[in-house]
Amino acid sequence: MSKKRILSGMRPTGKLHLGHLVGALDNWVKLQEEYECFFMVADWHALMSEYENTAHLSELIIDNVADWLSAGIDPEKATLFVQSQIPQHLDLHMIFSCLTPLGWLERCPTYKEQLREAKTRDLHTYGFLGYPVLQAADILVYKADKIPVGQDQLPHLELTREIARRFNGLYPVRKNTSGDMKFSNGVYKKEIFPAPQAILTQNPRLLGLDGRKMSKSYDNAINLSDSEEVIKKKISTMFTDPKRIKLSDKGHPDTCNVFSYYSTFIPQMKGEVHYWCSNTKLGCTQCKERMAAGLIEKLGPFSKKRQDILKDKTKIKKILQRGKEKALSVAEKTLGEVKEAMGI
Ligand code: TRP
Ligand code: SF4
Repeated sequence: MSKKRILSGMRPTGKLHLGHLVGALDNWVKLQEEYECFFMVADWHALMSEYENTAHLSELIIDNVADWLSAGIDPEKATLFVQSQIPQHLDLHMIFSCLTPLGWLERCPTYKEQLREAKTRDLHTYGFLGYPVLQAADILVYKADKIPVGQDQLPHLELTREIARRFNGLYPVRKNTSGDMKFSNGVYKKEIFPAPQAILTQNPRLLGLDGRKMSKSYDNAINLSDSEEVIKKKISTMFTDPKRIKLSDKGHPDTCNVFSYYSTFIPQMKGEVHYWCSNTKLGCTQCKERMAAGLIEKLGPFSKKRQDILKDKTKIKKILQRGKEKALSVAEKTLGEVKEAMGI
């Protein structure tokens, strides 16, 4: 049996942070063992919100991919590529745009939320409304079966399935027209696009230094490229249990964000820290210093690899070039089928 196919993507809108590592990359690294994986830098999607600020986009692409590789993404196992290098994403985006009712997009909860939340940029654009249409094209151009994403992306997957259903309904594959696509494992396939399913990331969401969602726009993230000094400094500013003011106040580790970092990165220390905190045996400053030291140690191999990788950026470019060729071969085939089904 051939492996099921996975596609996922990340927008190169800034340096990657710890949230990307535990929320996505660690998961991708496991998935590459079991699935045929396509991991994409979604630069068109970045442009949809960052169109006023494009000067660093190409640097960020390389920097983000360096983080992927440092986290353990293996280009021998997975296909790594840049969305804008595969023109078929835009071809399919165009075709899907023609058959996607406006209401589906206007009603999309992520769209409404982002319009409300964007303070520094104007997202009332034609392109941004079509964000999920392009995402549907990303997924369907590879006929991906499984999409590892966070909870927030589920509406986009639902829309992807609706767009696929609409396309399949409008352009059924006729029996006598060409091709190998009609037969898969001996079964006649009437539909070009499968219905992709989410793989929800298991890790609980890592919160930022201030207890809100970790995000570049809140300036509360620890970046994967931060130096040891910066990590220590950032962690020293972390919010702790607000009920604990003096050392003699008992702490509540279960509601303290610092403790959740122990759980995620240094689980072997969870038990003692929990006891110390609840029994006033450890002050918050010291607790954070220990956590910072443990986190830095944990990130050690990552940081070393990152330094090595960034010494030779041509290697990263070569990996992306190879990925491009592989992605192109799949995307071209799908577009051929699409056009044939549509008769264009
Ligand atoms: N919208 C996704 C995000 O913000 C990124 C993305 C673009 C993506 N295309 C995709 C994710 C296709 C999964 C599949 O995280
Ligand atoms: Fe949080 Fe640690 Fe302070 Fe307890 S001792 S409240 S876990 S920072």
